[in-house]
Amino acid sequence: MRSGGMSCVWVAATVLLPAAGCAAELSIEPARQQQLVRMVRQDCGSCHGMLLTGGLGPALTREALADKPVAAMAATIFHGRPGTPMPGWKPMLSETEALWIAEKLLAGFPAETRAAR
Ligand code: HEC
Repeated sequence: MRSGGMSCVWVAATVLLPAAGCAAELSIEPARQQQLVRMVRQDCGSCHGMLLTGGLGPALTREALADKPVAAMAATIFHGRPGTPMPGWKPMLSETEALWIAEKLLAGFPAETRAAR
């Protein structure tokens, strides 16, 4: 089982986000979290499937990603995979946000909620 604590260890162990503490890294404003969820459901869904169960790109469900390291998934999201259709999302996301998405995918991605404003 992955716990929140485990993923914090992962974060601290990667060079993706040097130095800063775990809590600070993943503190993303709730409104921005909603935007990110919406982006993954819509933009990523166009290749990975509306339910993220796969399409042109592979499934991004918790089950499909079970053995994959969160840092590698975050790097794929941030930089893309050269030579494949997977684009890098660097222009749209911070590294922290890419990591947040990777963690959420590994935990089972949340559904979109209505924007609260
Ligand atoms: C244009 C189509 C396309 C879009 C849009 C896209 N992906 Fe991908 N993605 C792919 C393909 C194709 C692969 C497989 C690359 C390979 O062959 O290694 C992939 C791979 C991945 C992987 C690695 C999966 C694994 O099993 O190793 C992750 C994670 C991922 N994408 C997340 C995302 C996220 C998050 C978004 C939106 C921010 C996104 N992708 C948008 C096409 C896309």
